Amino acid sequence: MTFDKHGVLEMKEVNYSSQRPKAKNPIKIQDVSFRDGHQSLFATRGRTEDMIPVAKMMDDIGFYSMEMWGGATFDVMHRYLNEDPWERIHTLKKHIKKTPFSMLLRGQNLVGYRNYADDVVEAFVQRACDNGIDIFRVFDALNDFRNFETAVKVIKKNKKHFEGAICYSLTEPRMGGKTYNLDYYLKKAKQLEDIGADTICIKDMAGLIAPYDAYNLVKALKDLTDIPIHLHTHFTSGMGDLTLLKAIEAGVDIIDTCMAPYAYRTSHPAVEPLVISLLGTNRDSGLDINKLAKISKEMEKVIPKYKHLLDDTKNAIIDTNVILHQTPGGMLSNLVNQLRQMDALDRIEDVFETLPKVRKDLGQVPLVTPTSQIVGTQTVNNVLFDKDEEYSNITEQVKDLCYGLYGKTTLPIDKKIQKKALKNYPKGETPIKTRPGDKIKPELAKTQKDVKDLAKNLDDALICALYPLTGKRFLKWKYDHEQVPDEVKPKTMEHVEKEQKIVRKALSGEVSLKKKKEKPANLRTFDVFVDGEHFEVEVADPNARGQAVKFEKKKIKTDTGKDSGNVRAPIPGMVIEYKKKVGDKVKAGETLVILEAMKMQNKLDAPVDGVIQNIDFKAGDSVNKGDILCYIKQEN
Ligand code: CO
Repeated sequence: MTFDKHGVLEMKEVNYSSQRPKAKNPIKIQDVSFRDGHQSLFATRGRTEDMIPVAKMMDDIGFYSMEMWGGATFDVMHRYLNEDPWERIHTLKKHIKKTPFSMLLRGQNLVGYRNYADDVVEAFVQRACDNGIDIFRVFDALNDFRNFETAVKVIKKNKKHFEGAICYSLTEPRMGGKTYNLDYYLKKAKQLEDIGADTICIKDMAGLIAPYDAYNLVKALKDLTDIPIHLHTHFTSGMGDLTLLKAIEAGVDIIDTCMAPYAYRTSHPAVEPLVISLLGTNRDSGLDINKLAKISKEMEKVIPKYKHLLDDTKNAIIDTNVILHQTPGGMLSNLVNQLRQMDALDRIEDVFETLPKVRKDLGQVPLVTPTSQIVGTQTVNNVLFDKDEEYSNITEQVKDLCYGLYGKTTLPIDKKIQKKALKNYPKGETPIKTRPGDKIKPELAKTQKDVKDLAKNLDDALICALYPLTGKRFLKWKYDHEQVPDEVKPKTMEHVEKEQKIVRKALSGEVSLKKKKEKPANLRTFDVFVDGEHFEVEVADPNARGQAVKFEKKKIKTDTGKDSGNVRAPIPGMVIEYKKKVGDKVKAGETLVILEAMKMQNKLDAPVDGVIQNIDFKAGDSVNKGDILCYIKQEN
């Protein structure tokens, strides 16, 4: 690339037409609206039916690739949307025939939250290839590339594109310091070159990378290797567009952007202003701005279905906390939710203050799924529960991390905490040093046997291998063994308009809050938030005559009187497993229930000695905070 004497990009006469001459070194653009875009803004709730109307138009743009799968999409689709994740690839392929599909793969974690056995990894990546994924962006939360080995073998065998990603992390506001400095990233890039990466991605999931750091890093990477460099950043901190521009000047090959309706806030810079900014330069993208504008206009039509998911508590669309605390946007909202659910939102500043120490104790790991949740949840535990001792309530995931099950941490874990975490740890008290996958026994055959009556093919079985409880529940919906609950059904625009009308009326005080005595059979329930308060609103089917509207504040089940033996859910979540059954004798401190909350598994222990008298839930049930999970009758 060339600069004129003022250091700006070489500029030709500006030509807006899509037929304009090709630039010397056009920037390649991957659109991420269909994966990271709605994941960042709308809790990954984007439905395939809302992507179809623009799919063909997107294919005609000339994007380098479209990221449309992986990350949280697999989880959310089968859990909350009643959509088969595999099916989305086929459906979109029918409309998008020219543009390669890319997915985000969490290395040995695939699209889940733990390391899976090699046989599951092999089968999953093979099926992803077979189903139509062309480019695999592979990352590991610890940047431990031993966790790539199994996946990359399969990607290479299928002659698909292997993009090796380095998670971008910081310990201070700018690149540098003892750990995450230029040298760290160059070493990691060299390792990726050695294992055969077709492209190298700097994956800045939190929007941390500052423009001049991006410039220096890209320049250094371009000097180091001939492998194309891809930059993934988020707008979260507000630096996104500046960073992309400086990276482009430094010679980055590929960047990630979203269409305007899916851009900004915790998402990505929009493509449109970049296309205009680069017009006529040697990095001109060549994309047609008029075609892009048409797509954005079409996309806006479905946005009202998702708008309630946007975090609109502040007017600012940037989050300065990201720069102050180096925490990814998703992790921040998780922490806030977690504290809110525990009625402890006032402790957020304590959490921010404690987080760097917990992170350092746990090996100064990058903060990305799942390490962001691991560090975040442990920090919340320390802030809320530590009274006489440090780390009084260590999560299962922290124990696994201390054992080495996630891989090698950036710095060694604090020895004292590691020892405490591994006391009585079932796999052993001495941490492993090998690739975690070597320690996990094959899992696929067992899952296949377990779900043989439910799963009709390997893709079905793989959903259950990754998500045992919700995967089975999804297959029951898929094959009509169980009725599909209303809350996972798609919303129509008609319903969205009705909801908006209700909220407007509620705000102006027009809606009566009287309870209806009888409930028509055709009611549908919606969650509506009015001035920060949560209401369940039931709306009669639009085809039914008349309309019943009911506001009811969510109540928590309580059972007073014999409370000391009650084991209550400390946070809302899903019951994974009861370790005891009715009639079992238990001692105080023994584990009774495993509860999954905020994607983390929590052990709940018996508060007293006694005999289990009631168990009110079963594995797979969702519970509210305060729900009584079981009752222990105390012995006198
Ligand atoms: Co991202």
